[in-house]
Amino acid sequence: MKEHYQLPVYKYLTQTLLRHTDVQAEQTDAVDLGGGDGVWVYYLLEQGFKSAALVDNDSDKIQTAAEKLTEYFAPERFQAINADVTAIPVANGAFNLAVSRSSMHFWPDLPAAWLELARVIRPGGYVFAGRGFGPDLPEDIRASVKAAKYQKLYGDSNEKHQEPPSMPAKELSKIAAEAGFKTIAVLPDHKAYWFLAQKNR
Ligand SMILES: C[S@@+](CC[C@H](N)C(=O)[O-])C[C@H]1O[C@@H](n2cnc3c(N)ncnc32)[C@H](O)[C@@H]1O
Repeated sequence: MKEHYQLPVYKYLTQTLLRHTDVQAEQTDAVDLGGGDGVWVYYLLEQGFKSAALVDNDSDKIQTAAEKLTEYFAPERFQAINADVTAIPVANGAFNLAVSRSSMHFWPDLPAAWLELARVIRPGGYVFAGRGFGPDLPEDIRASVKAAKYQKLYGDSNEKHQEPPSMPAKELSKIAAEAGFKTIAVLPDHKAYWFLAQKNR
């Protein structure tokens, strides 16, 4: 994991999050929604976050991530949960932070997902979600991470993949408000954006 090509992305994203919030790592139970292979969860745990859970509806990714995380961290600090973001099998208020990178545009029912977030996040807790490489990633690192990603996905072929578009931030802000979250910031990230919201107290 230490050598994972996407690690710098999560390092800078976490710094962005910490700069815009009062999040204290050692008091934070985090969850990464659609966290894929668990690299952001790995980074949060390595940085001293109290606990971190990976949620993804791809069972292969969850299994691989769980095996990797087990190599590095005590079992009471992490969970790898195979579930849809609209039905996360944890207690109410299990977390005080949710992060999510490049996953929310795949969720078919955003109002249901945000209601589930309202259930699992404690009052005053945060959601930091977006798409891309992060607003604060230096351009040279961004270019090398992007090159490594495309090499991994497509090798030398010129194939391009199409992903669904993201909802405009204003609409997302409305859905979040209806679920009980206040928008704290919308941070532009090249063609995408990062959305930071806080659950009402
Ligand atoms: C493009 S990958 C991003 C993975 C990772 N967050 C990253 O930073 O590279 C999108 C991930 O979202 C997951 N996903 C998509 N829809 C989901 C849903 N409704 N519930 C849970 N996970 C979902 C996919 O299985 C996939 O692992």
